[in-house]
Amino acid sequence: MRDGHNGYAPSAGILPAREAVARELSSRGMPATPDRVMITSGTSEGIELTLTALAEAGDEVLIPSPTYPLYTAVLAKVGAKPVFYRKDPENGWLPDVREIERLITPATRAIVVIDPNNPTGATYPDSIRRGLIEIAEKHNLPLLADEVYGDLAYAGPVPPMASLYPDAPIISFSSLSKAYLAPGWRAGWMVVGRTERLDDLLAAVKKLADGRLCSTGPMEHAIPAALNGDRSHEVSFREALRVRADVTVSRLNAIDGMSTVAPTAAFYAMPRVSLPEGITDEQYVLGLLRATGVLCVYGSGFGTKPEDGFFRVVFLADPAELSTIYDLIAEFTRDFLSRGGRER
Ligand SMILES: Cc1ncc(COP(=O)(O)O)c(C=O)c1O
Repeated sequence: MRDGHNGYAPSAGILPAREAVARELSSRGMPATPDRVMITSGTSEGIELTLTALAEAGDEVLIPSPTYPLYTAVLAKVGAKPVFYRKDPENGWLPDVREIERLITPATRAIVVIDPNNPTGATYPDSIRRGLIEIAEKHNLPLLADEVYGDLAYAGPVPPMASLYPDAPIISFSSLSKAYLAPGWRAGWMVVGRTERLDDLLAAVKKLADGRLCSTGPMEHAIPAALNGDRSHEVSFREALRVRADVTVSRLNAIDGMSTVAPTAAFYAMPRVSLPEGITDEQYVLGLLRATGVLCVYGSGFGTKPEDGFFRVVFLADPAELSTIYDLIAEFTRDFLSRGGRER
């Protein structure tokens, strides 16, 4: 900012940022050139521009359930219909590729994949990633790969989906929000796969991006600085998340009536509490909030059934604080269930 970078930037983003993103994705196996990179206000704006370009009233987009609510919000805005494919808590929150294919209709415009995943903390094995790409290829559907948690898998960075098949119609979305702990900077990008089939989509996204002038100019300069700079913080961040995930899973699974699939990435877990008949996840979560001051998000906010008793935990607090929080959750849950779901 002191160097005077306070004006409008090019609507696609400044060249050093697009070059840094292209280099980054190419080095991870998704061959990319700066002319197919757009710098966006976070992952969110890339997703919004892309869905706006792809879908209109009457169209359908395949969305994971439970989902990240941005997708349904953008589709509501453009009047298109989210068609949900299920991720199975009995199977590590993985989607069933055959089910996804069965949901495709002539109105389908795109498939959204969030891997690593919010709200479940799951990462998908290559067999599933390949299956998803095969479907996208076979039905010639753009695959929107939300890879914002790609650097936060405890086992190390997850390669972009497009690295498995760079000619597939894949668009990769990410940002500095999560891996660089800077969500407020709104410094994000989208990378359009090299296949010609995505040329019209890229042109449409560029047109829409012209309309909003540019993403936040000064913050675009953070992108080359981050991607070309030291990233040793990511190693300790991943380790800190893994420790918190372990505390979360062991403490929550020790509560009677509660079970949690162990996350493998990011800072989310989606435990399930077996609720008495007639009680909803919202009643449980609001009861917990009133009794303890601990706030989680009820699963139905992400699309699970209210009676199924899912809720999402964000475990960024330090392990000692988490331990106190899980004591409170354990005590509340014991009391709540023993009263058949009635609050004190
Ligand atoms: C799956 C997913 N996509 C996108 C976003 C938004 O990211 P950004 O801050 O880059 O817009 C989030 C933030 O929580 C997210 O969980």
